Amino acid sequence: MIYFDNAATTLQKPETVAKAVAEAISNLGNAGRGAYDAALHSMRMVYETREMINEFFNGDGSEQVAFMSNATEALNTAIDGMLQPGDHVITTAMEHNSVLRPLYLKEQQGVALTILPVGEDGTISSEAFEEAIRPDTEAIVCTHASNVTGTALNLYRIGEACKRHGLHFIVDASQSAGILPIDIQAMNIDALCFTGHKGLFGPQGTGGLCLKKGVTIRPLKSGGSGIHSFDKEQPHSMPELLEAGTINAHGIAGLKAGLEYIQQEGLERLYTREALLTKTFYEGVRRIDGVKVYGNFDQEKRAPLVALNIRNEDAGKVSEILWEDYGIATRAGAHCAPLMHETLRTTEQGVVRFSFSSFNTMEEIKTAIEAIRELAAE
Ligand code: ALA
Repeated sequence: MIYFDNAATTLQKPETVAKAVAEAISNLGNAGRGAYDAALHSMRMVYETREMINEFFNGDGSEQVAFMSNATEALNTAIDGMLQPGDHVITTAMEHNSVLRPLYLKEQQGVALTILPVGEDGTISSEAFEEAIRPDTEAIVCTHASNVTGTALNLYRIGEACKRHGLHFIVDASQSAGILPIDIQAMNIDALCFTGHKGLFGPQGTGGLCLKKGVTIRPLKSGGSGIHSFDKEQPHSMPELLEAGTINAHGIAGLKAGLEYIQQEGLERLYTREALLTKTFYEGVRRIDGVKVYGNFDQEKRAPLVALNIRNEDAGKVSEILWEDYGIATRAGAHCAPLMHETLRTTEQGVVRFSFSSFNTMEEIKTAIEAIRELAAE
């Protein structure tokens, strides 16, 4: 199999990730819920991972990192917990349903929504965000990079506008965490929502929210926290405020191993490799007669993926042939990003998305280019 669906989940992980999870299942107790070795061991491991995440994203303190099951849970928590009826929010047509659907829910509750349109090349100017700000604007919610086109937004510029206008900045880092540099302080991010199972090479069911100190947020759920058991309310301190229930320590052990791998290899080095694979594939397919590639490839940094179509062929059909005849795994369809597909005018056809990781090889890229050449020639 040639696995090119890393934007959905990374399947090839560092060996240490599976080992860490297997070891954790047999050895870790419930973090923060006991004073015997297995529970303490679990608590220490979770704490160390919190510290690593905080350092990796240059956050506001390890206690500001709340572990969650994925970016969707983090985005729901931030969007529901930081916005009130009467607020105005700016977002973009690049967004995944994990941003759009929680925002539509808030809209029903009285939050006003502006959705910035995306150019056909998949870009939005940073100025467009500032131009959309109104007196009642409370927040900007946006993705770091599109899961359909790979086009990245300039979080430094958007965060700077948020700072100047006193707005909250909520970021969906699903396609960028572990791939593009993220600096919470320099980008002025209030809530960084990340998943563990993509670029960070962790298991599914891991992820979290890095919250800026002093930001008021209502938790999405309440329950056991291991502290203040006689209080009727969820503890107000982070991370307990956002971590009701037993934490996924087994998964977090794998996430920790993923982070350690990235640190050992170096984020920049891994990105250079991913970028080279992406560029080679893009250059290889873009001039093939009948192939249309979507997105902006002039950006210095973008998510390592290429979305394309072959003439008017249904993307799902092309993806199926790629799998059945060539053993190439891609993702076709709408990718849970309806407005992006409306922009690209691909709501009916869909697009075939090839998304790469540093575990892919140049040989695999060449095989895929040849496969596209053959399919386009038919
Ligand atoms: N959101 C993931 C993707 O883009 C699952 O494939």
